[in-house]
Amino acid sequence: MPPTPPTTSPLAPYVHRDVPLEFAGRRLAFATSLDLFSSHQVDVGSKLLLRTLEPVLAGGLGGGAARVLDLGCGYGAIGVALATLPVVASAHLVDRDALAVDFARENARRNGAEDRVTTGTNLGLDDLAAAAGHAGAEPRYDLVVANVPGKAGDAVIASMLLGPLGVLRPGGLVAVVVIEPIRALVEATLARPDVEVALRRDTADYSVFHYRPAPDAAFPTPADAFAAGVYDIASLTFEDALEQPVTIATVQGLANYDRFDVIESALTRRLPRLPREGCVLLANVGQGALAAYVLRSHPAARFVLVDRDLLALRTTRRALLALGAPEDRLETRLIGAWTGDSAVQPTADVLVGVLREGGNAAAVTAEYLGLLGALAPGGRAVLAGSSTAITRLLAVKLPPHLKASRTKHRGTSFLEVARAAATD
Ligand SMILES: C[S@@+](CC[C@H](N)C(=O)[O-])C[C@H]1O[C@@H](n2cnc3c(N)ncnc32)[C@H](O)[C@@H]1O
Repeated sequence: MPPTPPTTSPLAPYVHRDVPLEFAGRRLAFATSLDLFSSHQVDVGSKLLLRTLEPVLAGGLGGGAARVLDLGCGYGAIGVALATLPVVASAHLVDRDALAVDFARENARRNGAEDRVTTGTNLGLDDLAAAAGHAGAEPRYDLVVANVPGKAGDAVIASMLLGPLGVLRPGGLVAVVVIEPIRALVEATLARPDVEVALRRDTADYSVFHYRPAPDAAFPTPADAFAAGVYDIASLTFEDALEQPVTIATVQGLANYDRFDVIESALTRRLPRLPREGCVLLANVGQGALAAYVLRSHPAARFVLVDRDLLALRTTRRALLALGAPEDRLETRLIGAWTGDSAVQPTADVLVGVLREGGNAAAVTAEYLGLLGALAPGGRAVLAGSSTAITRLLAVKLPPHLKASRTKHRGTSFLEVARAAATD
């Protein structure tokens, strides 16, 4: 089926370009975002992995109706391409990044595979049970594929390599591509008597491994890796507004595991006076240091944590709970693309965060307007960003009840936005 032409997708502000992929005699096309892996073309490693999989699937894996899991799907190049094959019955695409998942869903649609593709914002294999269809059922796949994130950290990489062996159906296969810097780690992780490597292909920059449980070996359904501490790396201690020490547990795979981010630290000096029992929305929460800082000064506030990264949300939520935040005053919202559907209710008395600027200008504007939509009457927002982004955002026309201005603190720029107390 020819690729569906791009239409008025709600993802339009986030699209960098459409990249082509020739696969199994088909011409596929993928919308990419500057803020996602390999936005200029489909990754060379992903293409290499796909080439090694064509004969395996043609050989009847899964009895000609294979169930595929794409772990860390990005915008969906591998999983969507596989889902276009007649021998693939279904492909489940998961990523910890909700924006990636939004793109994977869109790319399934563009390539006519939406009826065989399901998606989920998942942390590794931790959230797969929801895909099993009914409570208590174990999700099982004939093929698990991954272009393994090279900088996720050794323990996380090992869990992403071995965990899939515990979600295979009998006769199933795991197939991964990895970059050269982690080739030796992958080789060592798979060198075990209970793992059978069926194929290995090396180039200067990549290695592909196909592997499965050795005959008579059985792998259990993987335990929840986040809860088991697989992501944990260190703890971070800093001073709150009353110069009392606060300690949070930090994880690998997010920046600033060993220091309070300088921009977040500058933000603490610009925090508006918070109503003690109001609602605080924290955007792009990272390791959770800023959230912990605000919790210490305003323990009675309600918190809404917004991020597109499930790892950041889980880590921050865990930090706040450990510091005594009551569960019923803690809400998390995973938002990839800010579209009409992802809107947050206008309940925030205070909105604080660092703008994400990895995408194109339209994407940053969409995030800005989406966040401001969460301000309650009388609410105040303080958003940190680059000077260029803030100059541009100040030119964005806002509804009359919102007033934006710029402030600076030691080289960091902030956008401060106030919503009028009563709006008509
Ligand atoms: C190397 S990229 C591959 C993306 C895509 N499969 C491709 O081939 O273009 C790795 C992806 O894994 C995701 N990722 C990293 N750590 C993850 C985790 N713990 N759980 C789920 N996804 C993860 C990243 O967000 C990223 O999209």
